[in-house]
Amino acid sequence: MKVYSKKEDIRTVVDALKDQNISLGLVPTMGALHAGHLQLVKTALAENDKVVVSIFVNPTQFNNSEDLEKYPRALNADVSLLEAVNKDDILVYAPTVEDMYGSTLESQSFDFDGLEHEMEGKFRAGHFDGVGTIVKRFFDIVKPHKAYFGEKDFQQLAIIRKLVEKYSIPIEIVGCKIHREADGLAMSSRNARLKPAYRAAAPFIYDTLKAAKTKFGIKSVDKIVEWVENQFNKNELLNLEYFVIADEMTLKPIKRKTKNKDYRAFIAVYADDIRLIDNIALN
Ligand code: PAJ
Repeated sequence: MKVYSKKEDIRTVVDALKDQNISLGLVPTMGALHAGHLQLVKTALAENDKVVVSIFVNPTQFNNSEDLEKYPRALNADVSLLEAVNKDDILVYAPTVEDMYGSTLESQSFDFDGLEHEMEGKFRAGHFDGVGTIVKRFFDIVKPHKAYFGEKDFQQLAIIRKLVEKYSIPIEIVGCKIHREADGLAMSSRNARLKPAYRAAAPFIYDTLKAAKTKFGIKSVDKIVEWVENQFNKNELLNLEYFVIADEMTLKPIKRKTKNKDYRAFIAVYADDIRLIDNIALN
C-alpha cells in the first residue's frame, strides 16, 4: 500500500484517478486507527472506487499541549490495519506538519453560524478553527466526491456540513454511526491510554446516556440533567465536564421537547486525565 507524505504527490495521483472518472472517497483521521475508523473506511469503499485515508495528528485543533504530545501515533500499525481491509483501493496520505502548515502553525478563523460555540466549543478554545482549517486543506488537496465523518464527533460532523455549505465545496458529507466496544464504550484512539480501572469504569458513560434517553419526554430536561450530574457525583473515577440535551440541527441546549424536531444528548467526561466524549439520539 502506498503511503504519500507530500501534497504534490497525492494531488498528482488523485488528479489522474479523477481524469479516468474514478469515484473518490476521503476519510480524514488522526491515526491510531480502531474499528470505528475502519467502519468509515469500509463504508467509503462500498460507495467509491478508491478511498484516500488521511492520517495526521493536527496540532492546531489541540487546546492542550499535553494531549497533543500524548496522542497515540502508530503509522505502521495503521497501514497494516488498512491493508487487511483492502490493499488495492486505499491510498494513505500521511503528511508532515510542515507539509500541511509550512513554518507557521496557524488556523483560519471560521464562523459556523454559532455551531462552534456550543459544547466542545465552550471547553476547547480554538478547536473547531483547527478542525475547519485542516479539513478544508484536505478537501482542497484531495477533492474527493464524498467525505466520511463519524457521529461520535457529532458536533464536528455538523460543522463540516456547515463548512461545505458556506464555502460551496462540492463534496458530499456522509455521517456514519458510532462504533462501540462490546461493553458500550464508544471507540476512540484515546481509549488505549486508559488505565485498567478507568477502562473498566468508562462504559458508565454510555449506560448513563441510555438511561437519560429513557427519561426523555417523561421527566423535564432540567431533571434529567440534574440526575446525570448526580450519577457522576457518585462516581469516583469519572468526572463530568458537561451533559447537554440539544437540538440536533442548531446544537443549542433545549429546555423542553417540541414536535417535529430531533434531539440528542451529548456528554464529555474525564477518566483520569483522558477526555472522552459520546452522544445518543433521543428520538
Ligand atoms: P479522529 O478522532 O481520528 O477521527 C476520525 C474520524 O473517525 C472522525 O470522523 C470521527 O468522528 C470518526 N470516529 C472516531 N471514532 C469513531 C467511532 N467510535 N465510531 C464512528 N466514528 C468514529 O476526528 C478527527 O480525527 C479529526 O478531528 C479530523 C476530522 C481528522 C481532523 O483533524
